[in-house]
Amino acid sequence: MRIVVIGAGKVGRSLADGLAGADHDVVVPARGQEGAALPGAEAVVLAVPFPAVSEVLPALADGLAGIVVVDCTHPVGPGLSHGLSSAGSGSQVVQRLVPGASVVKAFSIYGWENLADNSFPGPLRPLMMIAGDDTWATSTVAGLASDLGWDPLVVGGLDQALHLEHLTLLWIRMVRGQGRSPHLVWARLERPAEL
Ligand SMILES: NC(=O)c1ccc[n+]([C@@H]2O[C@H](COP(=O)([O-])OP(=O)(O)OC[C@H]3O[C@@H](n4cnc5c(N)ncnc54)[C@H](OP(=O)(O)O)[C@@H]3O)[C@@H](O)[C@H]2O)c1
Repeated sequence: MRIVVIGAGKVGRSLADGLAGADHDVVVPARGQEGAALPGAEAVVLAVPFPAVSEVLPALADGLAGIVVVDCTHPVGPGLSHGLSSAGSGSQVVQRLVPGASVVKAFSIYGWENLADNSFPGPLRPLMMIAGDDTWATSTVAGLASDLGWDPLVVGGLDQALHLEHLTLLWIRMVRGQGRSPHLVWARLERPAEL
């Protein structure tokens, strides 16, 4: 799959390296050259600071129509609070900026360290929670997550992205605040409901 990564920082580089290693055709355009990289793209990874989305996306909206946009951004407010005061998710803001695209929240609930290296001992794969309104788009992103070694779990539509953003804050507070290892992830245990 041809994937354009916007934002060549810790998150963008880690995902670009992983996706290229999984045989995807990954392009990381220079800053300001994002629009030129979009023709032919099947997915776009958005990995810029949240305040930058309103600078970056409006000029790209036409080029992103019909494409899945993987929203890795996270709105952080003062004191590690939710940057939008929990009134809505950052992903919904992103979706409003690119109304023709299908926005999917993913690769956002842990620090970048787990995007660079998600290997853990034991039989369980690390969990990657995903939220988006379009089934084809969440399936596409679940496939990418699986390619990267994650156990993908689609948790619902973009209205669930707010709760993923709160989960991110939980992770940040535990790891950046309390000093836990950054190689901390969630895993899934699930069995069918009793009949
Ligand atoms: N760090 C984490 O552990 C982590 C984990 C999950 C999600 N996230 C989220 O992922 C996003 C990226 O985080 P990060 O840690 O990778 O940040 P980062 O290392 O600071 O990288 C951000 C990248 O975005 C680029 N950028 C900034 N403003 C831009 C603009 N207006 N137009 C185009 N490119 C722009 C930067 O370019 P320059 O270098 O030229 O400034 C840089 O390449 C953030 O929203 C963050 O909340 C972070």
